[in-house]
Amino acid sequence: MNKKAKRTQNEAPISEAMEAYAGDGALAFHTPGHKQGLGAHPLLKKLITEEGLRQEVSLMEELDDLHAPSGCIKEAETLAAELWGAKETLFMINGTTGAIHAMLLGTLKHGDKVIVPRNAHRSIIGGIILAGAKPVFIQPEIHHQLGITLGLSPKKVKKVLQANPDAKAMVVVYPTYYGVATDLRVLAEMLHVRNMLLLVDEAHGAHLRFSQGLPPQALECGADVVCQSTHKLLGSMTQTSMLHIGSDRVSSERIREAAALLQSTSPNQLLLASLDIARLQMAESGFMLAARAVNLANWVRSKINKIPGLYCVGDEILGTPWAYKLDPTKITVNLEGIDLPGPEAETMLRFMFGVQCELSDPRNILFIISIADTEQECIKLVEALQNLSDMRYDESREINEEFSEPVPVLPIPKMSANPRRSFFANKVKMDFDKAGGLVSGETVIFYPPGVPVLCPGEYITPEIIEYIRDRQAKGARIVGPADTELKTIKILR
Ligand SMILES: Cc1ncc(COP(=O)(O)O)c(C=O)c1O
Repeated sequence: MNKKAKRTQNEAPISEAMEAYAGDGALAFHTPGHKQGLGAHPLLKKLITEEGLRQEVSLMEELDDLHAPSGCIKEAETLAAELWGAKETLFMINGTTGAIHAMLLGTLKHGDKVIVPRNAHRSIIGGIILAGAKPVFIQPEIHHQLGITLGLSPKKVKKVLQANPDAKAMVVVYPTYYGVATDLRVLAEMLHVRNMLLLVDEAHGAHLRFSQGLPPQALECGADVVCQSTHKLLGSMTQTSMLHIGSDRVSSERIREAAALLQSTSPNQLLLASLDIARLQMAESGFMLAARAVNLANWVRSKINKIPGLYCVGDEILGTPWAYKLDPTKITVNLEGIDLPGPEAETMLRFMFGVQCELSDPRNILFIISIADTEQECIKLVEALQNLSDMRYDESREINEEFSEPVPVLPIPKMSANPRRSFFANKVKMDFDKAGGLVSGETVIFYPPGVPVLCPGEYITPEIIEYIRDRQAKGARIVGPADTELKTIKILR
């Protein structure tokens, strides 16, 4: 990436960067779901124009109040609740991050215990800090060869619930970034008999309700609250999400209070309208669009599996409660057979073959087929992967141990103080390589997929240092700490 040394006042770096990416013409196999306008509803296209700017006002009486809706926002939220089958739906303008913050702040009290899978997105840790809750982490199951996390084993969940009968709720990531869905109905039952809440991060599942070929949506499985990134897989603008309330076990009033605390008092009307239009689009043709995405994805999968050296993950990984269903529109391609680490494959695909993936990890590369895609884009994706294989596949090559060895699974670090106390505690900066045995004051996350390796208040172990250095060496990007190269880390005094 070319970085200019010093910008001048007659430049606009963000808009320049946006123009450059769009101008590059790389095919988008990533979010947002409208795929650079390809699948945008005509009303959305009309809105993002000069006419839209004329309409982009806030707080006028006709436009209602996001925090106490009684007019058009109330009507739009009610229509969304009807379509997704929720008791009540809240429109959120700070993504699923904001929705998850509101969900946790609106259902938990200071000191409440909450069971959290270790593959939780950073927004869940953020919500826990805001609520002052006490997380009890649980390790999700891992597919060792692919190196991806799966869902939760009911046996493990039962054990954690028995050991923590005072827990108030459990958060579940459903489905995972890679589209793997746990058997959520079983978990809902286990929680509800104990009077615990099932809170679901369904950031990657706003489309599930619209096809039998997809895992069932969390609301259908008994979730009490569900947060969905409408922008990721459907047709709204980036930053827009929905929070669905599924039961009377939670107070919608309290969740609205939390949402009002966290969101702007001047919500952007274009964002709210884009959520409403995304709902309209799915009401008009959601089943057709979702079926097309599923069919295209299955076609792409079958084509990729004929390319030498590439393996596209499918239903064969299912058969357990923690890998119960797979969202086929998530195209995970394992690169072991062409001996190419994910980040390198990502760069080659982008700059040699004009295809941009959603994410790469050491062993895989992930593409998203959304409601916007057509056969044309999918053919180009298959061609690009064929080109990659032509360049890299070598039948006589020896198996690379980096790929064939089981992925290292970090044990869940011991917690010295809860995340909120640690967040507010006095901290000092020190050399990260010498921080073994000390307590982290920061969250350390690899992005994507945004899952924390260290949370504030957790002990840093030599194993964690080694793991982080290894991932950095393979090109993974860190977010969370003030020093994103992690030469230093803030530790608790
Ligand atoms: C599993 C998961 N949860 C929550 C989020 C946050 O969603 P948003 O980007 O809508 O804030 C993400 C974003 O990548 C995610 O992958």
